[in-house]
Amino acid sequence: MAKILELVNFHYYYGNIHSVKGIDLHVDEGEMVTLIGANGAGKTTTLQSVSGLTKRRGIEGKIIFQGKEIQSFNGNKVASLGIAQALEGRHIFSKLSVEENLIMGAYKRKNSVEIKKDMDKVYERFPRLLERREQMGGTLSGGEQQMLAIGRALISLPTLMLLDEPSLGLAPLIVKEIFIAVKEINREGTTILFVEQNSKIALSTANRGYVMQTGEIVMTDTCENLMANAEIKKAYLGV
Ligand SMILES: Nc1ncnc2c1ncn2[C@@H]1O[C@H](COP(=O)(O)OP(=O)(O)OP(=O)(O)O)[C@@H](O)[C@H]1O
Ligand SMILES: [Mg+2]
Repeated sequence: MAKILELVNFHYYYGNIHSVKGIDLHVDEGEMVTLIGANGAGKTTTLQSVSGLTKRRGIEGKIIFQGKEIQSFNGNKVASLGIAQALEGRHIFSKLSVEENLIMGAYKRKNSVEIKKDMDKVYERFPRLLERREQMGGTLSGGEQQMLAIGRALISLPTLMLLDEPSLGLAPLIVKEIFIAVKEINREGTTILFVEQNSKIALSTANRGYVMQTGEIVMTDTCENLMANAEIKKAYLGV
């Protein structure tokens, strides 16, 4: 399988703070990969560095997307390559309706018939959003906002989708619902890299995983093997 994304000896510095300490990571085309780890491990920093949302001068090492070095690209340039992100804390437009938020995801697309088709697909996948299409984004529940963030990312027709903590602050049933949808999105061909603190659901959904600890990757394997690993069980799965 071809590598779609690759981080090579990637470091991140917030000024003097060395937050990510030389990690190597890759995602193959069609894969669903998770990056797990405790608070402050450097997961969000890593993901946002891929999407161009961290300061570029804090980066050392390479971020390669489809064979091209992108570590110097800003957020817009990264997005134009086909990398979409649903952020930790959602970042939806609170004063826009659900429908308008979704349309924002299509701002680079021209074919309105195709956009409409994909909007319908999102509504089919997340019927709650259909019921609330006129409602302001800011008045949605946390789970609905997460669905909207994922839906909006989907409308941009991404090659690679990045998700930061899709389970954050959500009830177990909603988490399950969201992960089922994300898995389906992956099965339909979108490559996914997601960050999670909920290791149990992350490892039972993804194909492969990386375990991050204080800025370093301490283990990587198939999710099946990680779930069977005694250390992982003890430290991350609570069994
Ligand atoms: N803007 C910033 N300035 C200085 N330090 C930062 C900044 N943002 C993050 N950090 C530090 O970098 C480290 C990694 O943070 P990051 O948000 O990437 O962790 P994380 O793995 O996503 O954690 P969480 O699970 O809590 O979301 C932390 O020690 C954090 O305090
Ligand atoms: Mg984080």
